[in-house]
Amino acid sequence: MSDAKPHVGLIGLAVMGENLALNIARNGFPLVVYNRTTLRTEEYLAGPAANTSITGAATLPEFVAALEPPRQIILMVKAGVPVDAVLTELVPLLDPGDIVVDGGNSYFRDTERREAELARQGIRYVGMGVSGGELGALWGPSLMPGGPREAYDVLEPMLMAIAAKTRYGPCVTYIGPGGSGHYVKMIHNGIEYGDMQLIAETYDIMRTALGMSAPEIAEVFARWNGGKLASYLIEVTAEVLRFVDEETGRPIVDVILDAAEQKGTGRWTIESAMELSSPVPTIDAAVTARNLSGLRALRVEASEVLIGPTPPGGADEARAMLGGDSGADGAFAALESSLYFSKVSSYAQGMSLLAAASITYDWKLNLSEIARIWTGGCIIRADFLADIMRAYRDNPKLTNLLLDADIARQSDETVGGARRSIVAARSWGIPVPGTSSALDYFDTLRQISLPANLVQAQRDYFGAHTYLRTDRDGIFHTLWHGAEQPAEPVPVQELADV
Ligand code: 6PG
Repeated sequence: MSDAKPHVGLIGLAVMGENLALNIARNGFPLVVYNRTTLRTEEYLAGPAANTSITGAATLPEFVAALEPPRQIILMVKAGVPVDAVLTELVPLLDPGDIVVDGGNSYFRDTERREAELARQGIRYVGMGVSGGELGALWGPSLMPGGPREAYDVLEPMLMAIAAKTRYGPCVTYIGPGGSGHYVKMIHNGIEYGDMQLIAETYDIMRTALGMSAPEIAEVFARWNGGKLASYLIEVTAEVLRFVDEETGRPIVDVILDAAEQKGTGRWTIESAMELSSPVPTIDAAVTARNLSGLRALRVEASEVLIGPTPPGGADEARAMLGGDSGADGAFAALESSLYFSKVSSYAQGMSLLAAASITYDWKLNLSEIARIWTGGCIIRADFLADIMRAYRDNPKLTNLLLDADIARQSDETVGGARRSIVAARSWGIPVPGTSSALDYFDTLRQISLPANLVQAQRDYFGAHTYLRTDRDGIFHTLWHGAEQPAEPVPVQELADV
């Protein structure tokens, strides 16, 4: 072993940090780690990091002194205030040219602020989305680094080495400047929320309308994982539904409280979608569903007061409603199509939001590359991502994923399943907000004529908000009230001249 000091350091030994450090060392990059609580560092060095090239430091000055400039320091600390707290202590110890990488789920605007602050001191700041949970961090995550290009170039050999690998290459690419890396990770998480909600709704139809047990539903998901839905989250779902609670002997999902929590990335996705007027209704539905699930006391109370539909029969009727004459196979095929269709619609929404952000913030995002680095390592990894990668490679200016010829064909083949699933769910009174929103997005996009003409008329009626016409140019306002109302609407310019 050489006496040269390592360039790479990692701060924050929670489970993601611990595993990422092991991954880095395993791939031939010796590194120094630091954790606020020294005991944790000592336990780590004596435990998982024993017999590796990982060394530790007890204080931040020691940590910085143990690294060779230009340093490459990865922060794996909780997003928000803790990142600023570490930076306040760390930055005065650094030299110009050093690189700091934030590998947490930071809000992209925080990343932009920190990048600007550190740039004033000559320090290069990289906001990097890291996806894949504990196992991904250890064996190969999907990495979404954004910030100064030249800093990425320095980091690239290490990032390529530690990232997940698929047939499409290592799951890392330079995302773009500023906070784009964390923005892309935020959208990844929003899509993750959407996928999870759509899967949960499909499970609910099987549980409630088809009367199936958790292990029976697990087998359906396991089967689907061998088909067009093949993905990590479908695999996880099958495993979770099979899992038996040791204490009660019941499927564990049946004893888990139905109140879903969240840490914020889904909500940020929606806030950004609203700000950029690029709707993501399925992600919106997923976040709203989590929030509603959390209102458990209210739901318990409402369940005794509010009355739902009388289901038009039992499991046989539900199967027939879903699959027509094709029995159980037809019903499951409809649900599989429904889930696939909804997923396509949801990804189309997420990718459109990425495209809108890319234009607004001038990030020049490569959507094909982003889909490629999501083919492995991350939580939303799925066979379907290869189709998205191909669609944006064939046409980088694609205005909406649903307009790609192959994706359009796939949605055409599966949309019927979504329509049938929603009808069945409604008949049994099962809420399917994610699936419904996915279909509504599709049905809205298809319309040449929406009822927004009426909304515009209403706005003009009560607020003189003006409107455009279909038959001529100009901005118009109608004098809706009183005898002076002219026969023709008045162009706003003319009104102003009066
Ligand atoms: C990942 C995950 C992870 C994320 C949670 C979302 O890509 O590895 O997206 O980063 O934090 O899965 O957490 P909540 O559901 O708690 O918001």
